[in-house]
Amino acid sequence: MITNFKQEDIITLAIETSCDETSASILKNGREVLSNIINSQIEQHKKFGGVVPEVASRRHIENINDVIEEALTVADVSFADLTHVGVTHGPGLVGALLVGLSAAKAIAFAREIPLNGVNHIEGHIYANFIEHKQLGPPFISLVVSGGHTHLVYMEDYGKYEVLGRTRDDAAGEAFDKIARALGLGYPGGPQIDRIAKEGNPDAIVFPKAYLEEGSYDFSFSGLKSAVLNYLNTQKMKGLDISTADVAAGFQKAIVDILIEKTIKCALEKGANRVVLAGGVAANSSLREQLRTECEKNNIDLKYPPLHLCTDNAAMIGCLAYYNYIRGLRSSLDLNAISNLKMGDNY
Ligand code: KG4
Ligand code: ZN
Repeated sequence: MITNFKQEDIITLAIETSCDETSASILKNGREVLSNIINSQIEQHKKFGGVVPEVASRRHIENINDVIEEALTVADVSFADLTHVGVTHGPGLVGALLVGLSAAKAIAFAREIPLNGVNHIEGHIYANFIEHKQLGPPFISLVVSGGHTHLVYMEDYGKYEVLGRTRDDAAGEAFDKIARALGLGYPGGPQIDRIAKEGNPDAIVFPKAYLEEGSYDFSFSGLKSAVLNYLNTQKMKGLDISTADVAAGFQKAIVDILIEKTIKCALEKGANRVVLAGGVAANSSLREQLRTECEKNNIDLKYPPLHLCTDNAAMIGCLAYYNYIRGLRSSLDLNAISNLKMGDNY
């Protein structure tokens, strides 16, 4: 043993390869991150304007061993120190998931240590437990990422009630598609966030979909079409397009609806805490305005630091630890499940 751990310490190696980040992390007792290595493939996917699944799988294969090695080195931990392995087994790109899952199974098998396969969306919520050491359920969580938009009541560890979800595009997906139409590149969220600061959010008013009375579901495809129609009409008429105003108006429409539904949901559920999670939780306007609205309604707001908002293995390790101490174990025939649902454990 390189580091001095106590006999009872749980030392988790966590692996995340669900999309375009190859990541490995070492955690002590779930909430103490000893290393969190993230190898992003953004540069490889940029020229295609989005993630190409086949390219992602290949890059994961090339990167995975080095990323795990680096996680161990930075944490000053050897394979022999590990007591537990956690890995994302869904949802995500199946070929990408299989790379991390195979590595995790091989290590768990060789070291004869327990394995926990976990849900990526749930993992995003747990990024908050790493940052806020005293935080625990119950709370309402808004999970907004490139692939998912969920409004969840987390009653206890592992106990979730999904109150609303997107019926079409995820919030991050909408950011990425509109950024592409504006020629801002991939990933679009950070670009729109940056350029929207220079625009007027009220110059162009885009529609917000509220859906049926009382519904906590979201829909962003109408908004996306409205922005694309606006851009086409301006072009056809030979009129100027202010990229900053379009970005600001589009961002406002998304952020307003996310906040309105989250606050309404928290008030109706009697929840006095909201936890923001997922890649879109990095959005500066969402963070600032949700903070203001939560303060107005006496709701405590927590969100992760920027480096834990987007995909990383530390959040996966934290969730795997809580599943482990709840007595859950995955078998070595665990499979990758591209559409894994929240709360499903294998
Ligand atoms: O959680 P994540 O890393 O991957 C998925 O699980 O999907 O989220 C990535 C998404 C991308 O769509 C990206 O454009 C978006 O998060 N994103 C942002 C910001 N930073 C990342 N969206 C809006 N504003 C940002 N600052
Ligand atoms: Zn994610």
